[in-house]
Amino acid sequence: MRVHVANHPLITHKLTVLRDERTPSPMFRQLVEELVTLLAYEATRNVHVEPIAIRTPVTETTGVRLSEPRPLVVPILRAGLGMLEGMVKLMPTAEVGFLGMLRDEVTLQPATYAERLPDDLSDRQCFVLDPMLATGGSLGAAIDFLFARGAQDVTAICILGAPEGVAAIEKQVGDRDVTLVLGALDERLNEKGYIVPGLGDAGDRLYGTV
Ligand code: URA
Repeated sequence: MRVHVANHPLITHKLTVLRDERTPSPMFRQLVEELVTLLAYEATRNVHVEPIAIRTPVTETTGVRLSEPRPLVVPILRAGLGMLEGMVKLMPTAEVGFLGMLRDEVTLQPATYAERLPDDLSDRQCFVLDPMLATGGSLGAAIDFLFARGAQDVTAICILGAPEGVAAIEKQVGDRDVTLVLGALDERLNEKGYIVPGLGDAGDRLYGTV
């Protein structure tokens, strides 16, 4: 597994405003969108392209376009939805699928409660959006789900990650082709499973407490 932690002053600046408890929801949403676009630049570094011939006003030349099958962007509901605009802004021709994960009250394992994805993901590059990599339970389950459908590789974009979550995903994915792109790697999880210093509950801060 590859782990890429953003190391860029503009990202750190935006993250600082995002973390601040005084930042209101509209600004929080705007910042998440901007951060995802910046992280998506790194996350799409290995996106598959193929050569095409074009004519500029001056001459013929070759460029590239995204290969088929198109990349699939998968926000994990609910907080991952706040990351979708920022991602498709950079890659407007990507397809979008949805996964809703929650913890099964009996088994305590993450379970899928909503799913809108192609049945066959063979040869697909998948980009999972999940703002907070805490224990890694739901992200790990989403990654397993995509590989079980045949995904070729999975890149997860998270605004913040905890070392515990990164270690859990690393253990779970083994030698499968997974990349984690994080805005920052924070210190730890607290006893309630929140990332420290973190930013609180990302879903609540995006959408208010419902
Ligand atoms: N989910 C959140 O929204 N925040 C955390 O700190 C951990 C998980």
